[in-house]
Amino acid sequence: MKIIHRAAELQEQLDYERARGNKVGFVPTMGALHEGHLSLVELAKQHADVVVVSIFVNPLQFGPAEDFDKYPRTLAEDAKLLEIENVQYLFAPGLEDVYPNGPELTQRAGVTGSTFEGASRPGHFDGMLTVVNRLMEIVQPDVVVFGEKDAQQVFIVSKLIKARFRNCQLIEGPTLREASGLAMSSRNRYLTDEERKDAENIYAHLNQMREELEAGAKVSETLTKHSTAIETSAKAKLEYLAVIDPQIFRPVDDNYQGPAKIIVAAKVGEVRLIDNLNVKAINA
Ligand code: PAF
Repeated sequence: MKIIHRAAELQEQLDYERARGNKVGFVPTMGALHEGHLSLVELAKQHADVVVVSIFVNPLQFGPAEDFDKYPRTLAEDAKLLEIENVQYLFAPGLEDVYPNGPELTQRAGVTGSTFEGASRPGHFDGMLTVVNRLMEIVQPDVVVFGEKDAQQVFIVSKLIKARFRNCQLIEGPTLREASGLAMSSRNRYLTDEERKDAENIYAHLNQMREELEAGAKVSETLTKHSTAIETSAKAKLEYLAVIDPQIFRPVDDNYQGPAKIIVAAKVGEVRLIDNLNVKAINA
């Protein structure tokens, strides 16, 4: 595996790969890799001949009160994991390579950028979209893989890809879960044992909601019941719990018919967690 820090060097290598007819797959990450990321790498490998994984903790997508400084930076361990996965290129650029003119927003995430995650984390999606756009410009992949766990991120990125990188295929990797059902996340490492149980309890509620909705329960009643239960039994501070239409990423009402997604964000102790679950159909 080649570890490359400079954008120009990566581009030179990838030009060479493309000239040999190799399809380039890309997995953008912020590092602190876990099995969830590695499953995205596996998907990229299945759809491309060479894989680039980027590791860049993007300051533009963190709010002033968020954990940018504390975000885990574990490049040496990450590199070992990627080496085992037979990844060809690890791209770990510095700030000046990603943002030659200094970190400034070049992309806006629009209306969806200010709901749910965007409401809890103002500016997050503009910053995320800016870095994804820049990394896509550098890598110019044939295939890019994002995790379904960040459902709103994938929704927003898919619009960018359709508009600006039309020849690139976007693949969504399913959420990897621990045996308890807790979605894998770089932030799980900060949970105490007790908080971990609370976090697992949130997943249990998502599952119950899915079952109830698929069995015909009303959206509004299901939401009220489980929001209260999560807040009380899981000692979690709920930021949002919603049932959305995945085509437009907006809440559905009790009359909605069709596939849906339950999305949740909660703070358990100091750790902010998100998750989502697909509902096959509501009122089918
Ligand atoms: O999902 C992430 O890890 C980040 O938002 C991404 C896509 C790597 C952009 O910084």
